[in-house]
Amino acid sequence: MTDDKNRVLIFDTTLRDGEQSPGATMTHTEKLEITQLLDEMGVDIIEAGFPIASDGDFAAVSEIAKQTQNAVICGLARAQIGDIDRCWEAVKHAKSPRIHTFIGTSPLHRAIPNLDMDQMAERIEQTVTHARNLCNNVQWSPMDATRTEYDYLCRVIEIAIKSGASTINIPDTVGYTAPRESADLIGRLIADVPGAEDVVFATHCHNDLGMATANSLAAVEAGARQIECTINGLGERAGNTALEEVVMALKVRHDIMPFDTGVDSQKIMNISRRVAAVSGFPVQFNKAIVGKNAFAHESGIHQDGMLKNAETFEIMRPEDVGLSATNLVMGKHSGRAALRSKLEELGFELGDNQLKDVFVRFKELADRKKEVYDDDLVALMRTQGDPEAERLKIMKLAVRCGTEGPQVADLVMEIDGEAQQTTQTGDGPVDATFNAVKALFPHEARLQLYQVHAVTEGTDAQATVSVRMEEGGRIVTGQSADTDTVVASAKAYVHALNRLLVRREKAGTDKAEISYKDVS
Ligand code: KIV
Ligand code: ZN
Repeated sequence: MTDDKNRVLIFDTTLRDGEQSPGATMTHTEKLEITQLLDEMGVDIIEAGFPIASDGDFAAVSEIAKQTQNAVICGLARAQIGDIDRCWEAVKHAKSPRIHTFIGTSPLHRAIPNLDMDQMAERIEQTVTHARNLCNNVQWSPMDATRTEYDYLCRVIEIAIKSGASTINIPDTVGYTAPRESADLIGRLIADVPGAEDVVFATHCHNDLGMATANSLAAVEAGARQIECTINGLGERAGNTALEEVVMALKVRHDIMPFDTGVDSQKIMNISRRVAAVSGFPVQFNKAIVGKNAFAHESGIHQDGMLKNAETFEIMRPEDVGLSATNLVMGKHSGRAALRSKLEELGFELGDNQLKDVFVRFKELADRKKEVYDDDLVALMRTQGDPEAERLKIMKLAVRCGTEGPQVADLVMEIDGEAQQTTQTGDGPVDATFNAVKALFPHEARLQLYQVHAVTEGTDAQATVSVRMEEGGRIVTGQSADTDTVVASAKAYVHALNRLLVRREKAGTDKAEISYKDVS
């Protein structure tokens, strides 16, 4: 890390706060893949998970700690000795480990473990000291800091610093603060708390009022030197501060915010796509920096201006965030080398075997669709089979539709290696298909969301389908893409069911899953 006073550390919590978002659960392999991308893009600290939450979380954090080359690897722990010990067991393998321990300090949060101010102060001293005895890099957070009485906040921060914390994180847990207030709070804390000059102050904002990015930047202007954020702003409710937004804001407006990060902004698009794919949370089209429309100029006036001088309407270049300048069309005559180079340009590095599989799927797509665009390839990559989770597979699907319902679906599905067939009806082709899946694989999971997007223009465009399902409080998402919307729907549904099966198996072997909100 650097001593430069204008260097802002980027702390990514996609795998902890982001993954905690209902339905965003990632598999072990996916977490390792995202970690590698974060590490390659130059993130300073990766919060890899909450090791006490489950055996799966523990295993993921340990493996991430072992494999990561550059970034500090951090694990989350409540203010309990058992949590902290478990966290250390997981992160200790890292080249640079960090323990992040926290407790809710606002009146509402103090009431949950039923601690008065003095008892809580004592708990903070004990737990931070314990963490510091295990690890020389300890971060402490007063959860719901922005709704904590100011004097009490100063008191507990001072205790945490004296007990050995070297990073003090100020969470706006419920996304309540506003930019001026965020700056004011950080500025005052740095001025008022004894020992503040020896630690790094961090900002951790949630986006409930759409102010997370502004609040984080305001905190930096007031002296915070670590921003906690997630890719695509993933996170519970309205999400966390989006990494891509703070990184690009600091880069593009360096004239008024002269702060630097270590992030290679050209890697943003690729990791954004991967996180969208593995979390099952698509990026909204007009999302800043990474939305599909963020660099699209469709109106005549804009296009004319862009052709004359791109700076008329563009404050950053698509290449700065890793978008390829051209949308080169591929087709059924394109070879394997062209596909590899196109995928590399889009940020997907494939081994030979992977390329072989993708090439087969690319050819199938190119046979059905005259022109294959970048977005088609990204959809193809996003919906690759997940070898960890493929107990159910769609083999054959035929649907009969007509103005007179009901619609009829003939489905052959492989379940644990055995092909099974059924014919079911429904109110529309998708309903008939889902009924057929349910007939072959009965389940109680409830469909919470069903979404279809056209990947490109034209009647032969691929449809990407996302479904979200819930069973006994567990939420999973599934995705697929196909030129046939009903086939994409069936595959997305089965993808979600496969993920649910993995979750069920994990729950069978894990201890009860604990949330970081279980604060007692
Ligand atoms: O939002 C929050 O308060 C958190 C803490 C655990 C840091 O995520
Ligand atoms: Zn949070």
